[in-house]
Amino acid sequence: MNTAGKIYKEEKIYKGERTQDIDKISLEGKKVFIRTFGCQMNEKDSERMIAKLGMIPAQSEYEADVIIVNTCAVREKPEHKVYSEVGKFIKLKKIKKDLKVGITGCVAQLKGSELLDKTGADFVVGTHAIHRIDEIVKRVVEGEIVVDTSLTTNINDRFESPIPETFYDGSRVKAFVTIQEGCNQFCTFCVVPITRGREVTRPSHDIIREIIELASRGVKEVTLIGQNVNGYGWNTPDEISFAQLLREINKIDGILRIRFTTSNPKYMTDELIDTMAECEKVCEHLHLPVQSGSNKILKKMARRYTIEQYLEIVEKLRKKIPSIALTTDIIVGFPGETDEDFEETVKLIKEVKFDDIFSFKFSPRPGTAAAKMENQIPEEVKAERLRYLQSIQDEITLSKMKEYIGKVEEILVEGPAQRNPDKDSTGRTRTNKPVNFEGKIPPGEIVYVKITEAFRNSLRGEIVKSS
Ligand code: SAH
Ligand code: F3S
Repeated sequence: MNTAGKIYKEEKIYKGERTQDIDKISLEGKKVFIRTFGCQMNEKDSERMIAKLGMIPAQSEYEADVIIVNTCAVREKPEHKVYSEVGKFIKLKKIKKDLKVGITGCVAQLKGSELLDKTGADFVVGTHAIHRIDEIVKRVVEGEIVVDTSLTTNINDRFESPIPETFYDGSRVKAFVTIQEGCNQFCTFCVVPITRGREVTRPSHDIIREIIELASRGVKEVTLIGQNVNGYGWNTPDEISFAQLLREINKIDGILRIRFTTSNPKYMTDELIDTMAECEKVCEHLHLPVQSGSNKILKKMARRYTIEQYLEIVEKLRKKIPSIALTTDIIVGFPGETDEDFEETVKLIKEVKFDDIFSFKFSPRPGTAAAKMENQIPEEVKAERLRYLQSIQDEITLSKMKEYIGKVEEILVEGPAQRNPDKDSTGRTRTNKPVNFEGKIPPGEIVYVKITEAFRNSLRGEIVKSS
């Protein structure tokens, strides 16, 4: 199935006069602007780049010396957005001659040097070369053009995660911590195994070290990230299991909340459910992508579970953790999805009543099996199915939000609210619902808020007790 050399493109291209004494070149005082698309993995990579570059984060693209577009390839739409965004930044080069523009992330990994001609960018850096970004940007600032989509299995390079001081200055209470990278599942619709490569597991001692350091910088909540976080340790016999990892992190002083994403139903063991119920810092929220309500489609997607197994997991979770919020991902219009298959998805979301769903039209991705399958679904049918599904979910979500009215919720304060920042603060419930309330409370504090109003995407309430 894996046609290695074919789907995994590796390029290392340097154009222009080779810069000598790279160590003597300094980026100090220069400003970088990073525009991030896609998942938490990309957000974390942008943060890694800021730390590694040691440049000043620019408030806008207009004051930047270097602009980086960190890209997502998971669907066609975000990929196209990349081209328009890069095009916009390239135009700024007319006004600012020394400005350098680069493309990183999943589209960079997928397309490599093709992007140079297509966009006029100065550098293209794939998902496995992020740790070399400082050297690459120094060369580019000196006039070189660089493409680096080489792959590595070196664990230190893949997980190197310096903590940027400009980020964690005490005002930021939440952080992402990578625990694994890449994916071996090859779900037939998904480009991630191609753009991020094979799964590598970060050593648990390194994860714990980073979390202790983050806690010392004022971080109160960590989200463990990876493509199949709950499969952590599965293929590394000398490593602890994901449940054991949660128990270790639960002991770290200063950390108040633990979240993780994304989990795969395939690895949702009883041990893990019990651990989630028992560890007081592990929050009552689980994002568990189901993708479809039809067993026929799940099989074609190579998801390796049935709807019956998924429902059994939901039942166990709700029994052990009654207040748990559940969210999921759904793809509509997968090749061969009939009206009946789609009805099964509708039935599933009505039955489970997820707190929210992230739903997408199937998008054929280069190098994936589903892109070549027969019976592709017409765009209008996909659009109609998506609209219908989302309208049903909107009602379910709103009624779930309304269930909070009258309840007192523990809120970790994140800072001033977006609307009314002079008067209101914002934070989240343990179940991950955003809550706005009156009062200027410093980030990182826990307050108890009685919920008085519920909207589709947020709650509002009044403080009844501050700690
Ligand atoms: N590792 C995660 C998610 C990966 S991508 C998992 O196990 O599910 C995030 C979401 O994007 C997926 O859950 C899926 O719903 C959606 N997605 C991925 N590829 C897609 C495609 N080709 N078309 C439409 N949606 C897609
Ligand atoms: Fe993608 Fe499936 Fe892995 S959705 S990231 S191939 S688990």
